[in-house]
Amino acid sequence: MTEQSPTVSMDKIVSLARRRGFIFQSSEIYGGLSGCWDYGPLGVELKRNVKQAWWQATVQERDDTVGLDTSILMHPQVWAASGHLQGFSDPLVECKNCHMRWRSDELKEPKCPSCGGELTEEKMFNLMFKTFAGPVESEENIVYLRPETAQGMFVNFQNVVNTTRRKLPLGIAQTGKSFRNEITTGNFIFRSREFEQMEIEYFVKPGTDEQWFEYWHQERFNWYIKLGIKKEHLRLYEHPKEKLAHYARRCIDVEYLFPHGWAELEGIANRGDYDLRQHSKASGKSLDYYDDDTKEHYLPNIIEPSAGVDRSLLAFMCDAYAEEPDKDETRVVMHFSPALAPIKIAILPLSKKENLSAFTKPIFNDLRKQWAVQYDDTQSIGRRYRRQDEVGTPYCVTIDFQSLEDNRVTVRERDSMHQIRIPIVELKKTLEKKLAGEDILVLPPGGEVVQAKGKDA
Ligand code: GAP
Repeated sequence: MTEQSPTVSMDKIVSLARRRGFIFQSSEIYGGLSGCWDYGPLGVELKRNVKQAWWQATVQERDDTVGLDTSILMHPQVWAASGHLQGFSDPLVECKNCHMRWRSDELKEPKCPSCGGELTEEKMFNLMFKTFAGPVESEENIVYLRPETAQGMFVNFQNVVNTTRRKLPLGIAQTGKSFRNEITTGNFIFRSREFEQMEIEYFVKPGTDEQWFEYWHQERFNWYIKLGIKKEHLRLYEHPKEKLAHYARRCIDVEYLFPHGWAELEGIANRGDYDLRQHSKASGKSLDYYDDDTKEHYLPNIIEPSAGVDRSLLAFMCDAYAEEPDKDETRVVMHFSPALAPIKIAILPLSKKENLSAFTKPIFNDLRKQWAVQYDDTQSIGRRYRRQDEVGTPYCVTIDFQSLEDNRVTVRERDSMHQIRIPIVELKKTLEKKLAGEDILVLPPGGEVVQAKGKDA
C-alpha cells in the first residue's frame, strides 16, 4: 500500500474557517483562551448538520436505539466508580528552565521541546475540571465537569429500560459537551479542553458482544464515507491488548488522515460489563437486566462507539477542501455533502433593482422554510459563485431580468459548475431531488441545459 499524505495544510483550513466565519478563537479580543473555540455563523450550521446526520443514523433510522440528554455535572461518586478519579490522568513533566509543561508520553526526546531544558520527574495529572456545587467551596461540595458523556447513559440504563420497555440489544445515544484539562492542546479544534462528543452505549447480551463490536466498528467507518470522506483517508487501528484502557476488552479507532497525520476520529470499544458492574457496586442498586425470553437476570455487556463532533467536523472540512483551476484563476471549493453543507442554496438576483428583488424575495422566503438558504445580491455573479463555492453551497439559483418575463431561473451546481434553466414552478421539487443526489443534467419538465462544461458565464 502506498503511503498517503494529507491533501490540505492545517493553515489553509484555519484561515478559511476564520475568514468565512466557521470557527474563531475563544475570547479572541482578550488574546484567546487556549484549547477553547467558538463556532461562527457557518460553523454552527455545519456543526448542527454533523450532529443531525449522526442522530439520524444512530437514533432516527434505527429500531434499537433511543436518545438521552444527561447533565454535565454528576454526583462525584460517579467518577470514583467509573475509575476517572483514580485513573483519568496523563503523565506530566515540567521544564526546569522555561517551566513549560508537557505530556511525557508524547515527547520524542527526554528534553524540553521548546528550549531543550532539563525536565522534572514525571507525575500523573488528572484531566478532570473541578468546581463546587453551591456557595461553599469545601471538599464535600467538589463536583467535576464530565470528561465524557458516557457515564450519564450508564447510570440511566435502568430508567431507560423501565420507561421504554425495550429489550436488548438496546442502544442509548447522546451528544453533548465534555471537558478535559488537556496538558497540551493543539492542531486547531483536534484537541481542545472543551469539546463535544457523540456517543452510543449499546447494551447487549453477554456472549454476543464480539459480534456487535464487529458490526459497530464497520457501521461507524461507513458513516464517514457516506457523508463524503474519501475511503483512502480513513483507516482502522486496533489497540494492542497490553495498551487497552482498564475497562476495555477490545478497542478499534477509526483514524483520519488529518493535516498533522493519521489520528483518532472515533473509538469503538467493547467495555464488557465493567461500567454496570462498577455502578451497581458503588450505588448498591442492582443494574441487572431481566431477559424475558430466557428468564435470566444478567449484567449486559456494552459496545461503545464514541465520536468527537469537533474532530469529525475538522475531518469533513479537510476532506471537502479543494483548489481547482478555473479559467486563469484557482477556485477554492468545499465539496461538502449536501447533508452537511451549512448553506444548501444561494439565491442570487442579478441586480439590486427593485423590481428584481420584489420578484426574488418570495422565492427566497418560500425556500428558506425548508432549507438554510442565503440571499446575496452584492458584486458580480462570478464573485458570488466563488463565495458560495468557498463555503460549500451545493446550488446557486440565479434570477435575471429574463426571469421576470419567462418565469424561469438558472440553477448552478457547485461541483460540476453545470447550469440548467428551469421553470420556477419546478424549482422546489428540482432542488429537493438534486440535494438528494440526482444528476444536475436530469431536467424537470420545461428545463434546459444552459452550460455543461464547467465554465461560469
Ligand atoms: N467514552 C469514551 C471516550 O470518551 P475517548 O477516546 O477518550 O473515549 C472519544 O473520546 C472521542 O472524543 C475521541 O475519539 C475524539 O473524537 C473526542 N475527543 C476526546 N478528547 C478530545 C479533546 N480533547 N478534544 C476534542 N475531541 C476529543
